[in-house]
Amino acid sequence: MTNISDYSKFIVDLRRHMWMAGIEMHLRRLIWQVAVTGKYISAKIHEANRKLAGFKNIHGDDQLTLDRSADEILINQLEYSGFVREYVSEESDKVITFQKGEAKYYVTADPLDGSSLVDTNLSMGTIIGIHIAPLLDTSGRDSMVAAMYITYGPLITMVYSAGKGTHEFVLNREGEYVLSEENITLDEKGSIYGLGGLRKEWTPEHLQYVEFLEAEGYKLRYSGGFVPDINQVLIKRGGVFTYPALKKSPTGKLRLIFELQPMAFLVEQAGGMATDGKSDILSIKPQKLDHRSPIYIGSRFEVEKVKEYLK
Ligand code: AHG
Ligand code: MN
Ligand code: MN
Repeated sequence: MTNISDYSKFIVDLRRHMWMAGIEMHLRRLIWQVAVTGKYISAKIHEANRKLAGFKNIHGDDQLTLDRSADEILINQLEYSGFVREYVSEESDKVITFQKGEAKYYVTADPLDGSSLVDTNLSMGTIIGIHIAPLLDTSGRDSMVAAMYITYGPLITMVYSAGKGTHEFVLNREGEYVLSEENITLDEKGSIYGLGGLRKEWTPEHLQYVEFLEAEGYKLRYSGGFVPDINQVLIKRGGVFTYPALKKSPTGKLRLIFELQPMAFLVEQAGGMATDGKSDILSIKPQKLDHRSPIYIGSRFEVEKVKEYLK
């Protein structure tokens, strides 16, 4: 299958790609449903008055109205899909049970990641995890069957994996998701790094690791949006994103279920790695919905290297 170049070439859209990959029908239709929902969330971002007052969510973050409406759009689109057994998002503290019966997928969502960037016009994203077992006390390795994210940037792109490689699609003017990067495969080593958290809050071991990368000549690429910050490591085929343990918060900031498991699934499918500094992200069993974890994610060299500093 060739990537898109012009309309004279054979264009592979998302549904055809998943069908040709032999992905199970209900999972194909669920992934498609989420991709379509991304168009509605994007429309909401463009129409929402970003100065609207916000709401507090369970994590104590200032929750913009946009987060909440993205969550509602996802709930409305997934509730009647017939494939979703349970839905949980970082915007609420409870699991929503949609269906019993044959609906078998458990869906996790960060409906709008990086929403605090909306007034800067920097890219934001939606992060989705798809599991076949209840989320708590089951590692991602045992429960995840697919993951995806949608980036709301100059283009709307969607990156997904159902366990057969990681692939990127771009939303074209005709409103179709067409294949743009197939079987994304990270190099052994990259040249960019993203550094979350305040430098004065970093542990000495983390600081030494960062100084190693700086001595190696890595270029700083950090927007404050987890989705575009990870997306660039995939599209540039290497590098590392870190949001480490901090002196005051040893579990860091990012959420295992809603943010880290889906990205770890996608990056591993692209030949990369994701760790909390000691264990693979996908081997950690979430103990609560708001389980947070340090993260080092990207190409093998950089992620293996951090284990030397944090052991
Ligand atoms: P969310 O908007 O879903 O709450 O996520 C924000 C996260 C993530 O996007 C990013 O990596 C991180 O916040 C940035 O944190 P800092 O502002 O501390 O750098
Ligand atoms: Mn987030
Ligand atoms: Mn969010």
